[in-house]
Amino acid sequence: MATTFDPGYVCRQCGRELRTDVTDGAAVRCPDCGLRIPVVEGVPRFPVPSGAASPASIFDRLAPLYESPLWFWPLYRFVGGPAAPLDDRERIASLLDLEGGEAVLDVACGTGRLTRRLAPAVASVLGVDVSGRMLERAQRTASRAGIENVAFARMSADDLWLETDAVDRVVCSWALHLFPDVAAALEESHRVLRPGGRFVAATLAEAYVLDLAPVRAVAREVLDAEPFTVADLHDRLRAAGFADASFDRRGAALFVEARAA
Ligand SMILES: C[S@@+](CC[C@H](N)C(=O)[O-])C[C@H]1O[C@@H](n2cnc3c(N)ncnc32)[C@H](O)[C@@H]1O
Ligand SMILES: [Zn+2]
Repeated sequence: MATTFDPGYVCRQCGRELRTDVTDGAAVRCPDCGLRIPVVEGVPRFPVPSGAASPASIFDRLAPLYESPLWFWPLYRFVGGPAAPLDDRERIASLLDLEGGEAVLDVACGTGRLTRRLAPAVASVLGVDVSGRMLERAQRTASRAGIENVAFARMSADDLWLETDAVDRVVCSWALHLFPDVAAALEESHRVLRPGGRFVAATLAEAYVLDLAPVRAVAREVLDAEPFTVADLHDRLRAAGFADASFDRRGAALFVEARAA
């Protein structure tokens, strides 16, 4: 696998940094408590909370089709309407305000669509997701493209196996509305983000097409998705410790930027 950087995984049981097991390349292991995390297809599989099982199985099934332009862009345009930016990744990258040397965490990275877009502009990107199949595609696509400063791991947004203040930016694209415990996910993002670091998300607002109860019902039924009101997300960000949140809503597509206070 092409990855050359070490994301610095930390044991949730005892706080020690995990090491690649030299006697068993297919695992990372805690030198203190002995915990062994299997690595499958180049992707460490950390334990995830039981609430992550449903989104993981939905996205495991969607993985082969996920990046198909046949549905991704029509759905994006339906949700965002004519006002949505042509390229969501461009909008997210500009909100991240990158200088080039940043360590970035891409929470709920899926197949690495955004991870690959950010990699050339930063020092490193770690993509985490609960879906093993999405991650396998992410790892394979990045490897084939020869991208060396990315790594992928199975982790849940609300249980990050990373050091406090580990990264300069946290990004979460099209996933916040899927998390069963949004408060815990935002708290974890805040914990791993260095003070003053930026958090950027693209998510769904209860507006435009998602202002209609039947459309919201379909989103809930198919994807377990719960869109936010801007006021609600603002309160949640503040409760997790973020400051200076700003919002840019395009249709039901909501772009958010905030700073770890
Ligand atoms: C719509 S996809 C977005 C993927 C990618 N960020 C993008 O912009 O293309 C949503 C992703 O969220 C992931 N996900 C859902 N719940 C999660 C959780 N609790 N922790 C981490 N990832 C999660 C899913 O597995 C899926 O890959
Ligand atoms: Zn340990």
